[in-house]
Amino acid sequence: MLSEAGYGYLPITEVNPTTLERFSCGKPRLDEFLATQALALHEARLGFTNVVFHQQFEGPVGYFTLANDAIKLNTSEKFDLGVDEHVELAAFPAVKIGRLAVHQDLQRTGVGAALMALLLGDILNTAGLSAARLIVVDADNDDAVLGFYKKLGFETSLWAEDMARNHTKKRVRPATIKMHRDVFKGL
Ligand SMILES: CC(C)(COP(=O)(O)OP(=O)(O)OC[C@H]1O[C@@H](n2cnc3c(N)ncnc32)[C@H](O)[C@@H]1OP(=O)(O)O)[C@@H](O)C(=O)NCCC(=O)NCCS
Repeated sequence: MLSEAGYGYLPITEVNPTTLERFSCGKPRLDEFLATQALALHEARLGFTNVVFHQQFEGPVGYFTLANDAIKLNTSEKFDLGVDEHVELAAFPAVKIGRLAVHQDLQRTGVGAALMALLLGDILNTAGLSAARLIVVDADNDDAVLGFYKKLGFETSLWAEDMARNHTKKRVRPATIKMHRDVFKGL
């Protein structure tokens, strides 16, 4: 089924492999993942990849890989979520974006934002059996990716920042930054 904006997605199991090989987002490791690893991960139920199409574009416009996750929150993050202070949860249920990419010819045209709206809507509407309140990503530590997630309402995980401060050597620039977003927050 197509969204109002003309997007639709299919599980990787239903997409012709040669179609996947033509996809390029400008990061070879993410292109290679889609072409050579995503299907096996999907079939092993370790990460579900969906390939996104648009009615006016030939081939995939993007893809995303999701899996269940859980994240710890510090006191102020719990407060922001509006969770009663007496609620005791070791970790908060989440959906993790394992991979997300947009075709390089379409970047900066709003496709990534549309894709996020699509997946957030479906997480809210279809995850009726297993609860997830947050959406989590280990975002590549570059300005484009961090700018993208910040614009879409993701915040740096303060809990993860505290952990990193206490357990990693100073001056080492991390390859990724853990970020999360409340699924109830409007786009
Ligand atoms: C990151 C990525 C998914 C963003 O998708 P996109 O379709 O280009 O993003 P959009 O056009 O929807 O941008 C939405 C907003 O994000 C921000 N943004 C996106 N790309 C940005 C960039 N290169 N630099 C700074 N901000 C950026 C902007 O605020 C933008 O809004 P604006 O264009 O109105 O200013 C895409 O660039 C991509 O696939 N990159 C390669 C793969 C990758 O790095 N994936 C993430 C791994 S964690």
